[in-house]
Amino acid sequence: MKKVATISILLVLYAAYSSWIYTSGTAIAATMTTEAMRGKQLWQRLNCQTCHQLYGLGGYMGPDLTTVITDKGRGAAYARGMMLSGGRQMPNYHLSVQDADMLLAYLSYVNGTQSR
Ligand code: HEC
Repeated sequence: MKKVATISILLVLYAAYSSWIYTSGTAIAATMTTEAMRGKQLWQRLNCQTCHQLYGLGGYMGPDLTTVITDKGRGAAYARGMMLSGGRQMPNYHLSVQDADMLLAYLSYVNGTQSR
């Protein structure tokens, strides 16, 4: 009788845990806006990943930008300025303000998929 009770409890726990994992357990907090999607396309078209990493993947000439939006000492305003006018080594793409904002929306989305 004890075995049956133990197995029943394990089965119930298994079912509960499975349903949690398959419903909310793997949900990503951030949803992608149209602006962020356009930013992603720009990111790919302009080959930003040749110098920058996202999630650790990409080139190593520039810094990783996965958490550039929330990092202390960096942040959205700094990132925007760097995209609009370039840096010492970061090329100036002469981006329009709209394009810079789309790239920024994409970087914010990426940043939002990090630790909750
Ligand atoms: C030729 C290599 C190269 C390419 C291509 C490049 N970057 Fe950069 N980027 C850099 C470097 C290097 C820095 C660090 C600042 C500096 O030294 O100018 C930087 C800095 C930045 C920063 C500020 C973050 C920080 O920590 O300094 C942002 C945001 C950024 N780049 C976005 C972009 C975007 C968006 C693109 C594509 C449109 C891009 N970069 C393409 C090299 C590059």
